[in-house]
Amino acid sequence: MQKKIKTIGVLTSGGDAAGMNAAIRAVVRACAYYNVACKGFYRGFEGLIEGDFVNLSARSVNNIIQKGGTILKTARSDAFKTKEGRKQAYSKLIAAKIDALVIIGGDGSFTGGTLFFKEFDFPVVGIPGTIDNDIFGTTHTLGYDTALNTAIDAIDKIRDTASSHNRLFFVEVMGRDAGFIALNAGVGAGAEEILIPEENLGLERMLESLKRSKRSGKSSSIVVVSEGDKTGKNVYELADYVKENMPEYDVRVTVLGHIQRGGSPSCFDRVLASRLGVKAVELLLDNKSNIMVGLLDNKVVSTNLEKAVKGKHSINKELLRISDIITT
Ligand code: F6P
Repeated sequence: MQKKIKTIGVLTSGGDAAGMNAAIRAVVRACAYYNVACKGFYRGFEGLIEGDFVNLSARSVNNIIQKGGTILKTARSDAFKTKEGRKQAYSKLIAAKIDALVIIGGDGSFTGGTLFFKEFDFPVVGIPGTIDNDIFGTTHTLGYDTALNTAIDAIDKIRDTASSHNRLFFVEVMGRDAGFIALNAGVGAGAEEILIPEENLGLERMLESLKRSKRSGKSSSIVVVSEGDKTGKNVYELADYVKENMPEYDVRVTVLGHIQRGGSPSCFDRVLASRLGVKAVELLLDNKSNIMVGLLDNKVVSTNLEKAVKGKHSINKELLRISDIITT
């Protein structure tokens, strides 16, 4: 017979993402609704290892749906990557009488969750929270939509300067291994060129395209570069390369950095977080485990946790073709 779940633990892990608080709120409120106790662990797996938690009631999560960051704080835990660390976390969970865990985070967090499930047969459900959107089994991760909106707002502003001064701007956006933000923000902000890790079209092509733009009468341009792009040059080296080959251009670089991670979540992220948070609790109460909840075809679905990390969430390369056409 399956064990009855009486207490659920929740934590946020990895890079913070807008919507994490909304997800915590949904988990806590769903627990209250189903008469299950809820405890929040601080600083992701670090808090699990130290047994650093707080009892969360429905009222503990008042007024956080609109807040960026995470009230539980977050960390990238090296200790949890070791068997010893995970053993300690397990003993703390047992001591705190936790029966199941909701992990809100990205691929690193889910890798830890998978190991934890395999080693201790401990029930876990993952909620995808990362601005990178690089998780298989969901079209959107928490924080991605908000990050996109922040990025296009920033690029729109940079465009004002680019066009007033006839300049070429390189704008670096986040995305260590994935170009979701660069590609979608690039198309959304009308960037002339978009460089992403998934498609290295080479530096020559970029130069040709910028020259074509100039010939067609454009006096300013924006190139959006994903931080993980594969040209072999960082954004400053890219700018230098263009300066050398197109001295007629006045070139500038802007790195958007962590402003993309923070801020109040978009309505989309709040609704997504609420749907995924409730479903995560319902699945655990239904004795389902070792899965991630995600959104596919606007339906909440579950995917094996390991598959969510190892599977490939491919970018839509058609968007590159569209981008070429609409920036002619
Ligand atoms: O994974 C989310 C992310 O924001 C990446 O896009 C970025 O490369 C990385 O985190 C930065 O991490 P940190 O804030 O730890 O420097």
